[in-house]
Amino acid sequence: MDIHGATALVTGANRGIGRALAAELRRRGAKVYATARRPEAIDLDGVETLALDITDPAAVAAAARTAHDVDLLVNNAGIGGGLLLGDLAAVRATLEVNLWGTLSMARAFAPVLAANGGGAMLNIASSASWFVFPGSSAYAVSKAAVWSMGNALRQELAAQGTAVTSVHLGAADTDMTRGLDVPKVAPADVARRALDGVRDGAYEVVVDEFAAMVKESLSADPRDFERRFQQLLVDTASTPASVSASASASTSD
Ligand SMILES: NC(=O)c1ccc[n+]([C@@H]2O[C@H](COP(=O)([O-])OP(=O)(O)OC[C@H]3O[C@@H](n4cnc5c(N)ncnc54)[C@H](OP(=O)(O)O)[C@@H]3O)[C@@H](O)[C@H]2O)c1
Repeated sequence: MDIHGATALVTGANRGIGRALAAELRRRGAKVYATARRPEAIDLDGVETLALDITDPAAVAAAARTAHDVDLLVNNAGIGGGLLLGDLAAVRATLEVNLWGTLSMARAFAPVLAANGGGAMLNIASSASWFVFPGSSAYAVSKAAVWSMGNALRQELAAQGTAVTSVHLGAADTDMTRGLDVPKVAPADVARRALDGVRDGAYEVVVDEFAAMVKESLSADPRDFERRFQQLLVDTASTPASVSASASASTSD
């Protein structure tokens, strides 16, 4: 897909990876609807701002009516989550945003994308689609769902010519990972890799070495990954994570 001249809508564009995606889209010559629960918090020039909580069906429907010229939907908004056996309301809240909110956006914008020639959908999943970071099992379940949803929607939207790209990364340097002492990718790097993937029609963008390692481990005995991950935690604890993760991108289609 040609990003230059595209019309994109980004959820959660007020900070973190969403803000970086909106900025990079503008830099590449796209028209951008930058959306957020508090649109006044969006500090980017040259974008159209919209109020959008993706868990609010009326707001999602209104966004699809207003942004009827969108041909690139960027599902970025997401929240963390705790333990599956912890507070059930918190588990539901995580799934409400990451799974149901994302699906709600996909359903509302599928006809918009069709009307605008097919276009593309970009979903920010995670390396947590493929493993469980200790303490974040609800988040892992939600991101596995986002990954699978991308694969499913790719099939369901193929007839209308909509490409679907899923993005997987370890840790990016945003509010979500504040306090986590691990190597982190810059949000701008995530945005660049993700949009290169959309440009190239990639099914999947694996942003950093950690996500690539997790993906590679899937074909082996899960115990091997567990051992490797535990060792990584030990190594990370003894090495300052001040150096940004080297973002070795890989895409597959
Ligand atoms: N950072 C990482 O290491 C990492 C790794 C893998 C994947 N990801 C994924 O990348 C995406 C962006 O994360 P981030 O690191 O940029 O996190 P972040 O800095 O915490 O930003 C999250 C964004 O999502 C928005 N959001 C949350 N709930 C929403 C809702 N109901 N409706 C609309 N917007 C909502 C937030 O809006 P408010 O400001 O209103 O809260 C904020 O703009 C998420 O899907 C996350 O799971 C992040």
